[in-house]
Amino acid sequence: MSDIRNIKLAPSGRQKIEWVKRYMPVLKSFEEEFAPQKPFDGYRMCVCCHLEAKTAYLIQVIQACGAKVAACASNPLSTQDDVVAALVEGGADVYAIHGETMEQYESHIRSALETEPNLIVDDGGDVITMLHEEFPELLAGVIGASEETTTGVLRLKAMEKAGELKIPVIPVNDAQCKYMFDNRYGTGQSVWDGIMRTTNLIVAGKRVVVAGYGWCGKGVAKRAAALGARVIVTEIDHIKATEALMDGFDVMSMNDAAALGDIFVTVTGCEDVIVGRHFDKMKDGVLLANAGHFDCEVKVSELAEMSEKVVEMRSNVEGYVQKDGRVLNVIAGGRLVNLASGDGHPAEIMDMSFALQFLAQKYIRENHSSMRPGLMNLPEDIDYSVAVRKLKAMGGAVDVLTPEQHKYLYGD
Ligand SMILES: NC(=O)c1ccc[n+]([C@@H]2O[C@H](COP(=O)([O-])OP(=O)(O)OC[C@H]3O[C@@H](n4cnc5c(N)ncnc54)[C@H](O)[C@@H]3O)[C@@H](O)[C@H]2O)c1
Repeated sequence: MSDIRNIKLAPSGRQKIEWVKRYMPVLKSFEEEFAPQKPFDGYRMCVCCHLEAKTAYLIQVIQACGAKVAACASNPLSTQDDVVAALVEGGADVYAIHGETMEQYESHIRSALETEPNLIVDDGGDVITMLHEEFPELLAGVIGASEETTTGVLRLKAMEKAGELKIPVIPVNDAQCKYMFDNRYGTGQSVWDGIMRTTNLIVAGKRVVVAGYGWCGKGVAKRAAALGARVIVTEIDHIKATEALMDGFDVMSMNDAAALGDIFVTVTGCEDVIVGRHFDKMKDGVLLANAGHFDCEVKVSELAEMSEKVVEMRSNVEGYVQKDGRVLNVIAGGRLVNLASGDGHPAEIMDMSFALQFLAQKYIRENHSSMRPGLMNLPEDIDYSVAVRKLKAMGGAVDVLTPEQHKYLYGD
């Protein structure tokens, strides 16, 4: 059983998956190594992620390793209908349609949970939350889950603190091979890809305001500078703000930045980062985009209330016309711009993130009897093993310590 737009779109989806596979050598090496052993034989897995080509390849590898997969979207706008058609053709149950309403989005997560998964890959924490709130009877059958993103990890930490998290979860986001690459280089590049292809405007010479200088924000700011923008960073943390300043960016409050920026990108994981008092100060024609997980960073509902009317300026760009005639342009409705206005992170980046997801699931499958409910980091050697394969695939190499050097550094 599936609920998708149109199975006839599968050929185009297959082509997209074939393309990314060529650039995901680490995940491919796991497929070649583990598929013959079928480590997930007899297991049902629920995958809730951005349903585009790279995720589809992860699902194919998991299927090749024996699991039965049910997939749903982690964002109503990031689903690619042709890709999910190809997945259904390949035997997965998929519940996702690009542009689905929030009601549909939630009912699709419900449908995926109704397949009674033993393992969960989540991105943002919606599946794990719904599992606990609406399907407590299924908790006993879930041996563990892995979580992809910062916001999901924060939600799960809050559940754990409240004593409400009843299954073991590996926060894949917190592995070095995830946040140092996916959040920084992946978001850094794909945010600008999404903004540029959606607007067809230049970045060079513009004042770009990046809200949040965490792993994602560093990447977004650095790539903006590389494109020739003059970058302003806003932060709430003095250390991150100082880091941004020493990295060469202007640092100020959003109240001050609002009047200066041409392009705004929020990437904080916080709510209400850009609100009415900021919209009031903005220049005519500004672009507003969000790259944080939820669409609560740019307060679009308040902007709508302040506006005379909303006009579709281009596909995926809405112009909020103010009473004084200024037009503030919101890209992709304030949803994460690299996925709702683009294809997400480059394949080479998701190669690492999904290699980690694969290994996290395999770890849970092999060790669940000794895992307790709550968050448990991916073991460091597993994290490191992804870098070993990635560096080799990219043609890099490291020096090897001599016994003397080893002793000098580590004493043995
Ligand atoms: N678009 C993507 O593809 C993608 C990829 C990875 C993560 N994410 C999401 O991006 C968000 C940020 O992730 P991260 O890994 O960079 O997190 P992080 O914790 O490393 O960084 C967030 C930064 O935002 C700052 N911040 C918080 N509230 C703020 C506010 N009101 N104003 C200014 N700064 C504020 C924090 O001090 C912190 O430095 C999360 O929602 C995460 O889930 C998106």
